[in-house]
Amino acid sequence: MTTHYEVHGTVARITLSNPPVNGLGHATRLSITDNLQKANADAAIKSIVITGAGKAFSGGADIKEFGSPKAMQEPNLLSVISAVENSSKPVVAAIHSVCMGGGLELALGCHYRIAAPGCSVALPEVKLGLLPGAGGTQRLPRALGVEPALNMIVSGEPVKSELLAQIPGQKLFDKMASSAESLQEEALVFAQSIADTRPLPLVRSLPCKHPKGDAYFQFARNMVKGMAKNFPAPLKCVDAVEAATKRKFEDGMLFERELFINLMWTPESRALRHIFMAERAASKIPDVPADTPQREIKSIAVIGAGTMGGGIAMNFLNAGIPVRMLEMKQEALDRGLATIRKNYEAQVKKGKLKQDKYEQRMGLLSTTLSYDDLKDADLVIEAVFEEMGVKEKVFKELDRVMKPGAILASNTSTLDVNQIAGFTQRPQDVVGMHFFSPANIMKLLEVVRGEKTGKDVLATVMALAKKIRKTAVVSGVCDGFIGNRMIEQYGRQGGFLLDEGCTPEQVDKAAEKFGFAMGPFRMGDLAGNDIGWAIRKRRYQEKPDMKYSKTADLLCEKGRFGQKTGAGWYDYLPGKRDAIPSAEVVQMIEAHRASLGITPRKISDEEIVQRLVFALVNEAAHILEEGIANKASDIDMVYLMGYGFPIFRGGPMLYADQLGLFNVVQAMHRFAQNPLDDAKFWQPAPLLARLAAEGKTFN
Ligand code: 3HC
Ligand code: NAI
Repeated sequence: MTTHYEVHGTVARITLSNPPVNGLGHATRLSITDNLQKANADAAIKSIVITGAGKAFSGGADIKEFGSPKAMQEPNLLSVISAVENSSKPVVAAIHSVCMGGGLELALGCHYRIAAPGCSVALPEVKLGLLPGAGGTQRLPRALGVEPALNMIVSGEPVKSELLAQIPGQKLFDKMASSAESLQEEALVFAQSIADTRPLPLVRSLPCKHPKGDAYFQFARNMVKGMAKNFPAPLKCVDAVEAATKRKFEDGMLFERELFINLMWTPESRALRHIFMAERAASKIPDVPADTPQREIKSIAVIGAGTMGGGIAMNFLNAGIPVRMLEMKQEALDRGLATIRKNYEAQVKKGKLKQDKYEQRMGLLSTTLSYDDLKDADLVIEAVFEEMGVKEKVFKELDRVMKPGAILASNTSTLDVNQIAGFTQRPQDVVGMHFFSPANIMKLLEVVRGEKTGKDVLATVMALAKKIRKTAVVSGVCDGFIGNRMIEQYGRQGGFLLDEGCTPEQVDKAAEKFGFAMGPFRMGDLAGNDIGWAIRKRRYQEKPDMKYSKTADLLCEKGRFGQKTGAGWYDYLPGKRDAIPSAEVVQMIEAHRASLGITPRKISDEEIVQRLVFALVNEAAHILEEGIANKASDIDMVYLMGYGFPIFRGGPMLYADQLGLFNVVQAMHRFAQNPLDDAKFWQPAPLLARLAAEGKTFN
């Protein structure tokens, strides 16, 4: 049963009971209308309360139904709300915990609303690329006033019930319960008290005007346009709320419906809904059930106080977990500590962190030069130099000192986690925790699962990631894991494009127009071109027949490592980060091209983007097929959270799905014909070829 029906004297209570958040899926909607009918048919019932069981009144429409016929199957949400409005007996919404989207729209259809304090109230549809589609844009402005309603609808942000109750003249809540605990009791009493009131009040009958009318909406549009960028929904929210002030209620509802349906089919909404689900799916590992026991993590040790070690430590300090950092020399510890202080002080200066919080966090940090001081930590994360020999020494030491049951993690970005685990007598306790730079800011964490990593270790690390607000994605062991293995193919295409006729600026501009936060060459300059150089040198040994452009090596031979050396693919003024196109680099590329006997050709932005993105997609298909990634949506999360892939495109896999895998494969065949590219690479990965042939998608 997705709702419960109980009778309390003359009041019938309908309790939504569809865990986890009482989503208004078809079965729930049907159950609500059935129970409404039952209450209306029972002469002993004088009024009705609708509420939710568990941790929500309702989280809104069931997102999992979107795009399927079930979403609109009768009774759809509009019909349920009509049934509530048309109930001959008063209906009271008893709202608590979470009241969002369709849940709030259902409440707005009720004749009365009583809310518990502390409830998160929102119309978050815009975050899914939509607008409220069951009357929210027409009823909330009437209940709350145009401006506060528009703010809520355009931002999608939750507002606490007690704050909403303070808005002058608001008709959203008829009563605030004195506490969450007493809500149900107070709702029953309230329902009795209004049982005989007629006519029944309806939000739809309330007036809806803005005193400044057109001027206000023009202002709102200008504000929203600047923020909405690639997303169509926010401006449509303004249109819909404006309609509430200018049209009759029924006409406004039709207009809202039309906008809602159109938005539902936009690629941007598809992307945002995909991300919502993908983010939650990422924490689920197929063979690690949700009830897998976890180890307790109360303290952390970090080995290495360099670029990564410091950032990693900050994540845990921010979450209130004590950290001890170890280095080889006092100077290195002092340097690491000073960087952490500097980062926090910058936050204090900007008003983002209170002084007392800063001190509290620093108070949780201690340092040492001795491994023996780490032995009691529950989790130790190694972030020392990227050399197997160094890692070996560290892990042997950790194996010697750490208490049994401690988790031993490595932040390695390329090395074999199985080999690292083999340096210890407890490979089941070893896992990769691959943070991204800057580690205190970037949302992504690749959790690298070794052959012998324990399931409880994985479950623990995934839960811990949530605590430190990271999006964790599990990767198997391979060179580069998910993200860097893919970026290598993207980078290789960038090199070929230069050889064939592009400038770094042209490639970057095309990628940025597509929506990447940064094109490949600006990204190289930021991360340091020497990192890729070191990897290529290794590749030349390991895979001598792999084709590479030599341009990036020539750049590095000039010492142009990027921002840190004041010159890379671009020139940089001292202390500035603006990338200035470099005549020297263009000359270098042209000379190299000439030495290869290549006549440059004009390459379209479309080709640039396709080669960069499809290179990601093809490598990703191999990664998926090899089981390095558990699911396509995990790969999307890696690219969205760690590599600046445009959010509105939903990640490389969803982008390919939306283009059609058949078209992707056709383009790859075209690229394979290009003698200056790598024909072998462009053979579609078997999984991709199969899905394309079967007309299927990754997701
Ligand atoms: N439909 C279906 N499932 C939902 C859901 C929804 N609206 N909202 C959340 N869930 C699911 C999640 O997928 C997750 O499932 P899982 O346990 O299988 O992974 C589970 O509920 C818990 O979600 P969270 O991990 O996000 O839990 P939190 O407690 O952190 O947050 C929440 C709860 C605040 C409700 C948050 O999930 C949320 O913001 N949900 C989205 C709400 C939303 O966007 N509603 C609008 C829907 S669109 C709509 O109503 C259209 C209408 O206008 C016509
Ligand atoms: P770094 O050079 O800035 O810092 C390494 C620190 O480790 C130095 O302070 C050094 O003194 C210390 N160290 C070296 N050997 C040690 C030992 N035996 N015991 C204790 N301390 C020791 O390097 P960075 O960039 O922080 O990288 C560290 C690790 O993180 C590497 O494995 C790297 O591949 C990985 N990584 C780096 C990223 C980056 O963007 N810099 C991103 C993701 C992972």
